Amino acid sequence: MCDSDANLVEAVRDAYSAKARTTVDSSYAQNVASAFGYSVEELQAIPAEANLGLSCGNPVGAASIKEGEKVLDLGSGGGIDIFLAASKVGPTGQAIGLDMSEDMITLARKNAAKKGLKPPHVAFVQAALTETFPIASDSIDCILSNCVLNLVPGIGKAKVMKEVFRVLKPGGRIVLDDIIAKKPLPACIRNDLVAYVGCISGAVTLDDYKVLLSDAGFKDPLFVDTKVDLNVYFQPESGCGISCCAAPPTGVLQRPAMPNFDANEWVGSYQIYAVKASAEQTADVQSVNPLNNWWDAYPRPKSDAPLVTAEEVVEMMKDPVQKDFAVIDVRRNDHGGGHVRGSTQCPAQTFYDDLPTFVEKFGNTKKVIFYCGSSNGRGPRCARWYQDRLNELGNSASAAYVLKDGIRGWLAKYGDATDLVDRD
Ligand SMILES: C[S@@+](CC[C@H](N)C(=O)[O-])C[C@H]1O[C@@H](n2cnc3c(N)ncnc32)[C@H](O)[C@@H]1O
Repeated sequence: MCDSDANLVEAVRDAYSAKARTTVDSSYAQNVASAFGYSVEELQAIPAEANLGLSCGNPVGAASIKEGEKVLDLGSGGGIDIFLAASKVGPTGQAIGLDMSEDMITLARKNAAKKGLKPPHVAFVQAALTETFPIASDSIDCILSNCVLNLVPGIGKAKVMKEVFRVLKPGGRIVLDDIIAKKPLPACIRNDLVAYVGCISGAVTLDDYKVLLSDAGFKDPLFVDTKVDLNVYFQPESGCGISCCAAPPTGVLQRPAMPNFDANEWVGSYQIYAVKASAEQTADVQSVNPLNNWWDAYPRPKSDAPLVTAEEVVEMMKDPVQKDFAVIDVRRNDHGGGHVRGSTQCPAQTFYDDLPTFVEKFGNTKKVIFYCGSSNGRGPRCARWYQDRLNELGNSASAAYVLKDGIRGWLAKYGDATDLVDRD
């Protein structure tokens, strides 16, 4: 990515992060969503804050998503399409949203929590689409995107399409809603940053879009002009003319600084369908978990958790008076060899979701010491999540630590000491 493309991505990230932090005018958002085909029932079924009025289509409505499928949404925003997809894939499927904005991901995760939806069934992952997707190859049945790809600058669009092709299962499909230029855009529109962030200036023509898809490997994509009047974005509030509302529109399209600009003259909203054609057998890839790293579906820990040595822990264990500590084993299926004596099992993969109960149980314990196989990975991650939660709660009665060198170091030193090791 060149410098100017990086600046555009930065501007897009800042703008949509700000939108994620702003309270949405719900009647405006509903008006926009209705214009692009979301039904009242669909909008009532999802958390209200998932619809930010930033869509330019309804990809789930056209994607024929079936139970058990794995769906990926590129630029998932507040999660509008992920929540609709989740209800279609059911508990045996997965709906995964990617977005580069931490604020959007935080908002979407909060929305998911309101509905009791959790990873791996519903996962929101912070990821820039201009990077390699954190998703396994040949693992996704259906890829959605709603008003996002126009925001990816320059050669980034081609890279995204190649990643889309890579992660789709053979026979998998895409349903993309996007803004497409009806004719080549003049420099005064192309170079307008407000209109770029506002989904206009980065739009490519139909011919260029076809090349992007065919270069990525898609044959015979179908483009449908939804013909929705894009001026819907410029109506401040549903049922209310510009004259009676002081609030500026919070929606996606932003006009360039050009006199008498009519969005419909230059750009249109399109729905794009294509299939990753292949004669390959798909049965073998059915059970692949698309997420490369399970922890990507959770917040990045912010706090630090200091190391404590095995010797220090042994000292605590042997102290007949001072017992204000707990040792937590966050391993799941790799317990061979034994545990630190008296440790509590809390698998890392479900640790974040179980944090409220964990804090209730250990929030008054002075030292909570986490371990996995080594000093890296799951142990420190859970310790730092715990410390983050303590900090959020203003809890200074408890603190998180990490056992230096994990269980491997412990067993190397005390493997033969029956009073220090529990066996499975
Ligand atoms: C116009 S909003 C659409 C949000 C959502 N799809 C919807 O319909 O409500 C665009 C979203 O794409 C995200 N986005 C834009 N460019 C991106 C990129 N290069 N990588 C990842 N996310 C991106 C933004 O952060 C924002 O959440």
